[in-house]
Amino acid sequence: MHSAVDVIRVKRDGGRLSDEQIDWVVDAYTRGQVADEQMASLAMAILLRGMTSEETARWTAAMVASGEVLALDSVRKPTVDKHSTGGVGDKITLPLTPLVAACGAAVPQLSGRGLGHTGGTLDKLESIPGWRAQLSDEEIRAQLDEVGAVVCAATEGLAPADRKLYALRDVTGTVESIPLIASSIMSKKIAEGVQSLVLDVKCGSGAFMKDLDRARELATALVDIGTASGLRTSALITDMSVPLGRAVGNALEVAEAVDVLRGGGPPDVVELTLALAREMLDHAGLSDVDPAEVLADGRAYDSWRRMIKAQGGDPEAELPRARHIDVVTAPEDGVLTELDAFAVGIAAWRLGAGRARKEDDVEHAAGVLCLAKPGDRVTAGQPLLELHTDRPETVPGAGEALQGAYEISGADRRSTPLILDRVAASS
Ligand code: URA
Repeated sequence: MHSAVDVIRVKRDGGRLSDEQIDWVVDAYTRGQVADEQMASLAMAILLRGMTSEETARWTAAMVASGEVLALDSVRKPTVDKHSTGGVGDKITLPLTPLVAACGAAVPQLSGRGLGHTGGTLDKLESIPGWRAQLSDEEIRAQLDEVGAVVCAATEGLAPADRKLYALRDVTGTVESIPLIASSIMSKKIAEGVQSLVLDVKCGSGAFMKDLDRARELATALVDIGTASGLRTSALITDMSVPLGRAVGNALEVAEAVDVLRGGGPPDVVELTLALAREMLDHAGLSDVDPAEVLADGRAYDSWRRMIKAQGGDPEAELPRARHIDVVTAPEDGVLTELDAFAVGIAAWRLGAGRARKEDDVEHAAGVLCLAKPGDRVTAGQPLLELHTDRPETVPGAGEALQGAYEISGADRRSTPLILDRVAASS
């Protein structure tokens, strides 16, 4: 017979939770038999005392067991997914999913909507006229067989324990615990039923993890959980101190992703798309396929069009455009040395690209276009940023967020790598 108070006391005193205690408390909380205040207290004890990697793996498995697992055994290709911990201008899922599918894998990207300063993949794709996020399990499997690429909403049945626990952590100051973050992310990914997974752990001002040590800690926790549950898992730690690419905001990011799929686009978006594709193809046993070739010869773009059409979207349709565009210009000549990702993310959000509450709608055309990126030489009066919105009254708030967000200097900027580290199972 278990008691929530006993479980809380073990962790409060720095002890290790047994497998039975973890299974029981996660299940009982999901069914409403452990009260919110008891789970909040346990979450705080976990935040302060930590969990071992064995406890974290078991906690994750218990969250997976709280709901359904998507059955992908019938899919005839190797299944592989990518998860990013979220960043400003991170539209990589859009070119990556059809690219990896065009290379021969099946990629089910079950995604979410944005909250706060980072955008959600579904919000981005919903700027394409007709595109629909909600698919049944049957439709997901059929599309994986026919197209190989699916980006859709995660069904309610996957890891319901996480949904309940995440809402509780959000209001009790317990989001920041690495074991709780890692188990939250991985429970949803494991419930997707894929054979392998690549994680893009963002690091820098625009990310959840602001410094490299914390990012490494999270990446290791994620890879350990994946490996313990039988998934081939690895992680790249990538820079998020500067927005990724030039576009931040839903339709703006779709347009940039299409540029990449047509062989153009910003070099950092191309670099990261290819690096993640190589990791995914490696896990899927397809390392002999060169994703750069598949991107260059139009097969990835073809796969994008088929993926969008399969979900009711019109890939040739015009994307929504903002009714108002304001331009921020360079105050002096020099080299742009800083462009703070977090500030740009907040500005885009204030212009209407993001939501403050889950129930809010996003403005598909709103966002920020970064016309110059760090390292670029600029002259006084040259446009640096475009602020796109349907509501011009939001511009002063966006401008305020951008105060001090960029720096122009006489000296050249030392270029910093986009990919900061890689974490694999054996390292
Ligand atoms: N994303 C998640 O899915 N869970 C967390 O706990 C944090 C970020």
